Amino acid sequence: ITKIKEVFRNPQEYLDKEITIGGWIRSLRDSKTFGFIVINDGSYFEPMQVVYHDTMENFEQISKQNVGAALMVTGTLVATPQAKQPFEIQAREVVVEGASAPDYPLQKKRHSFEYLRTISHLRPRTNTFQAVFRVRSLIAFAIHKFFQEQGFVYVHTPIITGSDAEGAGEMFQVTTLDMKNVPQTEDGSPDYSQDFFGKETSLTVSGQLNGETFAQAFGDIYTFGPTFRAENSNTTRHAAEFWMIEPEIAFADLEDDMDLAEAMLKYIIKYVLEEAPEEMKFFNSFVDKGLASRLELVLNSDFERITYTKAIELLEKVNDKFEFKVTWGSDLQTEHERYLTEQLYKKPVFVTDYPKEIKAFYMKQNADGKTVAAMDCLVPGIGEIIGGSQREDDMDKLRARMEECNLDEGEYDFYLDLRKYGSTKHAGFGLGFERCVMYLTGMGNIRDVVPFPRTAGTCDL
Ligand code: 4AD
Ligand code: MG
Repeated sequence: ITKIKEVFRNPQEYLDKEITIGGWIRSLRDSKTFGFIVINDGSYFEPMQVVYHDTMENFEQISKQNVGAALMVTGTLVATPQAKQPFEIQAREVVVEGASAPDYPLQKKRHSFEYLRTISHLRPRTNTFQAVFRVRSLIAFAIHKFFQEQGFVYVHTPIITGSDAEGAGEMFQVTTLDMKNVPQTEDGSPDYSQDFFGKETSLTVSGQLNGETFAQAFGDIYTFGPTFRAENSNTTRHAAEFWMIEPEIAFADLEDDMDLAEAMLKYIIKYVLEEAPEEMKFFNSFVDKGLASRLELVLNSDFERITYTKAIELLEKVNDKFEFKVTWGSDLQTEHERYLTEQLYKKPVFVTDYPKEIKAFYMKQNADGKTVAAMDCLVPGIGEIIGGSQREDDMDKLRARMEECNLDEGEYDFYLDLRKYGSTKHAGFGLGFERCVMYLTGMGNIRDVVPFPRTAGTCDL
């Protein structure tokens, strides 16, 4: 079987030769003596046109086929210089592998993304979702390539964990108990002691703490895996299950961390523009008209870097624009993040040195006693795409902060050990993979960049 992509990339090798392709019908037009089939095999954004004739014994069977049917086509690739596409297949044989029922939901018209979400098993056969999921796959590969080329070790951190890495209490519990029939202790209260072999566990919200242990052995590591958050936020940017990339670098500070994040994002953009030009052109024409120029600008400029305190000063000047007014100490909402990136700087912005109260316990405290060495990377159209920090490496400060945050020291013994045995300054960040896919495709809803989304209230298929 020849892939359509192969043919488009190296037409000289295939012209005037017989090839076989396998794919699904996008459209079919027939007349009395011949017909045209547009077929997509998933290897390439562009489909292939096939011409078939009534000299074929199953001519009528072919002409009866509906959109969505699976075919194997064998024929000669011929040049068609006048047509929209530079070549087509003159079929010798068309085998109907699987007919498609006439109520196939993807007829040749535009369907809304909302509707397509209800058929997540069929939407990958549409142009838009072919483009989205191919780009998603390429971004994943680009990320691995970026880190592997620099010698980072890929660590598989666990999905079932015993500690809350973010200390935010947004975890899905994992249990082996029959929740309708929880055993009772003598006084009649539920006895969870048999839960997951006697320990309370949950699905990971972040692999960072495990990642840090490996960074203290390998120097540079990254994780890339699914994470889960039981936050009940029904937005276009939050999912209950999403993927995160978390590099961690030893002997590095916040500046190094931002340099790494910026280099990574630029690398991914460049890679995808090179490897998926047809898809990126499609997004720019049909999904987000400013996309190409915005990404071009990102490649050719430095990200802005401002402190949280500076950001608040800038935002306070235009507080009347916002639903949520900001003052020093408030967390930035999406509207503020978007103002900074879309109105003020028109490019990605790192905001650094947030108040310690609104950030996680593990972030390194700054000398001012008020802020921590944190950074969020904000991008136009989305807001926060990356969150990271330098980590607290002073044992006493870390202990004190954990106590303030009511964290149970016993669960974090391993983490404190890292500060006891050969602690170094180190830093890392988390890139939200879905937000990255949204950023590169211009897609506006996280539900449309995950093959089978799990968001508050949805778990179809
Ligand atoms: O800012 P967050 O919570 O940071 C961490 O988890 C750190 N442990 C990362 C680190 O330093 N190693 O999450 C990181 C990123 C966010 O910037 C966002 O892009 C994404 O993960 N994210 C979500 N994406 C989709 N749905 C959600 N519910 C998300 N929550 C966070
Ligand atoms: Mg964050």
